[in-house]
Amino acid sequence: MPISLTDIDHIGIAVEDLEASVALYERLLGTSAAHRERVEDQGVEEVLFAAGSSFIQLLGALGPDTSVGRSLAARGPGLHHIAYRVADIEAALDHFRTEGARLIDDTPRPGSRGTRIAFIHPRSMNGVLVELVQET
Ligand code: CO
Repeated sequence: MPISLTDIDHIGIAVEDLEASVALYERLLGTSAAHRERVEDQGVEEVLFAAGSSFIQLLGALGPDTSVGRSLAARGPGLHHIAYRVADIEAALDHFRTEGARLIDDTPRPGSRGTRIAFIHPRSMNGVLVELVQET
């Protein structure tokens, strides 16, 4: 497989009130959050819940003029993106580029948990914002 897709890394969900959403998920999933991180570069504070080797990721916007802030204003809370875990993010990006996909990130940038990430435009992925994640 050209992009060496190894797993779903996480499913990102945009939320209006991060603290209330974390409390809700902790109660409904019956578990504590596995990780919390503020990623200034992406304008988000994220909280991860483990699901096997994948994560459910709650995304709070750090302001209205951020990717998640704009998504919340336009569509309200809900599914924001799906992240594919790949073995080699440069090779995966090259593959998407060669196939004519519209890239949001031409080169990988730092993600949470020390990962490297890059986004593919939803117009190239049937309306779904796709993130590539390589763990280090
Ligand atoms: Co993500």
